Amino acid sequence: MNVANIARRLVAGELHYALGRFESVRRGYSALRRLSPRSRQRAPAGPPIALPPLPATLFAGQTVERALGDLRRDSIAFGFDLPWSMVEEMVEFATHSPLQRRLRDDRMFYRHNVHKGRLEDGSPAVMGIVPDPLDCPAVRRVCRDPLLMECAGKFLGFPATKIIPRLFWSFVTDATDDERRQLGQTIDWHFDVHDFHFCSAQFYLTDVGPGAGEHALVRGSHHGKSLRMLMGSANVRDEQLFTHFDRDRVLVVEGPAGTGFLEDTSCYHRATPPASRERLMLQLWLS
Ligand SMILES: [Fe+2]
Repeated sequence: MNVANIARRLVAGELHYALGRFESVRRGYSALRRLSPRSRQRAPAGPPIALPPLPATLFAGQTVERALGDLRRDSIAFGFDLPWSMVEEMVEFATHSPLQRRLRDDRMFYRHNVHKGRLEDGSPAVMGIVPDPLDCPAVRRVCRDPLLMECAGKFLGFPATKIIPRLFWSFVTDATDDERRQLGQTIDWHFDVHDFHFCSAQFYLTDVGPGAGEHALVRGSHHGKSLRMLMGSANVRDEQLFTHFDRDRVLVVEGPAGTGFLEDTSCYHRATPPASRERLMLQLWLS
């Protein structure tokens, strides 16, 4: 149990961290956002510019009904693959953008400064985060996709007003697990609590197979957590997780560059550190 940590974050004003983990709170928050005209008018707290949806979707093969059914059953909905031209544009952008090891880190570097998973001073380069992903037109295009936003809005129960894009490299490095954790790589099983109700869209921008930074999740684990899991840390040890959920529910997501999926990240999930090939990923935090 980690009630003290939850209490500490409550005192720090992070109410969503304490409450966003409960399905009942998430459902109640949905209803409140639907009913309250004031909250509907809330200014976006995500990117600094409004991103109204465009008329045509990139994901013509997907439907809202199918995506919602998949999300509610498996915590993940595939069918949001990006066209190759947009993948190329984002790879190009992230290859030449300055990068940070963590957001708000003063130190900047470029992808070409990373050699064998280390920066020039020998410190490990676990991730390279693009500080301003919205400067890339293809990223803005995804953020404005009408079908993606409709799926997110129907799932949340209210239109997503916070759309926070994260574009980042995960490098092949011999960094220790502790170094990875310190640098923000989420290698441990955990669930997200970044708002009262939320989901994430994720897109591989490099080919992801074994050893290339596969995203893994426990299908359906957005539902049915024990009280101990809900009241404790959002991170969980393997033993505790697989005592509660069957191991055969683990889904390791592989796919070519462009593979995209929407995820209810209140499910247990984790990043697999790339062992043989670096990965570039676009994530949108939606709430
Ligand atoms: Fe996460």
